[in-house]
Amino acid sequence: MNAGLVVLVSGQGTNLQALIDACADPGYGARIVAVGSDRDGIGALDRAASAGIPAFTLRVRDFAAREAWDAALAARCGQYRPDLIVCAGFMKLVGKAFLDRFAGRCLNTHPALLPSFPGMHGVRDALDYGVKVTGCTVFLVDEGVDAGPVIAQACVAVHDDDDEATLHERIKVAERALLVGTVGRMARDGWSLTGETGRKVRIGR
Ligand code: GRF
Repeated sequence: MNAGLVVLVSGQGTNLQALIDACADPGYGARIVAVGSDRDGIGALDRAASAGIPAFTLRVRDFAAREAWDAALAARCGQYRPDLIVCAGFMKLVGKAFLDRFAGRCLNTHPALLPSFPGMHGVRDALDYGVKVTGCTVFLVDEGVDAGPVIAQACVAVHDDDDEATLHERIKVAERALLVGTVGRMARDGWSLTGETGRKVRIGR
């Protein structure tokens, strides 16, 4: 039985597209049951529509309080009975109601090697710092900002002539492959948290 994914998006949706393409293979082990966004008019929603995937938008500003938005997001995602939530360029932090329901099975992708350069500007911050290697991280979402247990990482070299856009595009190539590979392995083989701190993610039974 394929694992059901709800994919949360805010932008172009190239990571979503990579997941859509991967799910076309019946052996991949997962299917996208819905796409959720926090804004209208984004490329990711067009990609969901083209693929015939149900989609919904919940904007924070349409709710009286952030907590109400978070609870609505949790409830809406829950309607699709997902096995995994994948934040794929979703630019909002989820809160308590969402984590009460989905902690441990909600993952996110970040365009830097965490714990270095968390936050909204991971690519720019790495470039400004002058690191020679950066990359991307797939991690389990917790209450912190890009702070949850690391599931998988990939390295990307920084070139002398990189700017934020060129470096981010190169990271996104690695990021899509990492996300697709990691979600597929988790869907097919399961995962657990081990180690004294409970932060070591082990994929496999
Ligand atoms: C990714 O690099 C993600 O890590 C970052 O924004 C980008 C989203 O790209 N937060 P896309 O919308 O999947 O094309």
